[in-house]
Amino acid sequence: MDYVPIRTSTLRGDQKTGFDIYIKIASKYILYIREGASFEGARLSKLKEKKLKKLYILSDKEENYRTYLSANIERAFDRGSGQPIEERGRVIQGLQESQCEEIMEDPTNEIQYQIAKKGAGRFAEFLMAENKAVQSILNVTNDEKSIAAHGVAVSTYAVALAEKLGYKDDETLKQLALGALIHDIGHTETEAPFGSLYEEMDVTKLKSYQEHPFKGGHKVKEQNHFDRNVIEIILQHEETADGTGYPKKLNENKMNPLALIVGTANFLDRMMTFEGVPEKDASKEIMVRGLSKYPLQHLQHLQAIIKEVYVNSNAS
Ligand SMILES: [Fe+2]
Ligand SMILES: [Fe+2]
Repeated sequence: MDYVPIRTSTLRGDQKTGFDIYIKIASKYILYIREGASFEGARLSKLKEKKLKKLYILSDKEENYRTYLSANIERAFDRGSGQPIEERGRVIQGLQESQCEEIMEDPTNEIQYQIAKKGAGRFAEFLMAENKAVQSILNVTNDEKSIAAHGVAVSTYAVALAEKLGYKDDETLKQLALGALIHDIGHTETEAPFGSLYEEMDVTKLKSYQEHPFKGGHKVKEQNHFDRNVIEIILQHEETADGTGYPKKLNENKMNPLALIVGTANFLDRMMTFEGVPEKDASKEIMVRGLSKYPLQHLQHLQAIIKEVYVNSNAS
């Protein structure tokens, strides 16, 4: 029997599966979850705890998996489906995470790039059109500190920030959402572990860590299907408006404005997810620490987003 891999992040929501799911241990496939299961609540938490990026299905059930996947996606994007926004957000968050993993695994695959780009457009539309959409994505916590889930959070903040800055063009927003999603693609090639804190790295590790924008850019720039904006977001997302970032110490005038948006969004998610700055302090912290590095307007808009997502929702 043949087995094919599926991404764990695509298993979300209350829809029941039409396929058995296997786990691979020492080249053996072991039945893990029987057909007819759904992935919400306790079962989803348990699955996430396992930290398995891939699971397996029998190849003759691939069609069932595809049907499951597209039904899940369509339902999640359909605001008239009757599904609560929290549930729809979880499915869409998982979908974006899987798209990020796909591109990071094989940036040369043009078809996959186009699928992810179209998906990024739909994602941006969802975030902008619906109340609580931003919150529904950011409510999914990134406990395992994965690059892909960090990418989804940064993409969410970046689109929300761009909306407040007045960006309206669909193609630009699509490229922004996609670039933000995969901005850390270069981390797969550095020695310092992803999510390391700057103050905890020695000189050698820090040097290797700081190569990630360049390595990421280098990896994709030869690929004709990559949009210029996406490449520049990867190359410039660690630069800052005041020219103290890396790798080139560019300042705001020299930067792609989309990369600066992603940089500000990245600054916030790094603080909350990797440094553990609590929600109640995030607004103050970004202003204290980001004021010279990022445009005041960006920071003020992010403060408004933090208020909408974390403060107001906790109060209600
Ligand atoms: Fe980065
Ligand atoms: Fe990042």
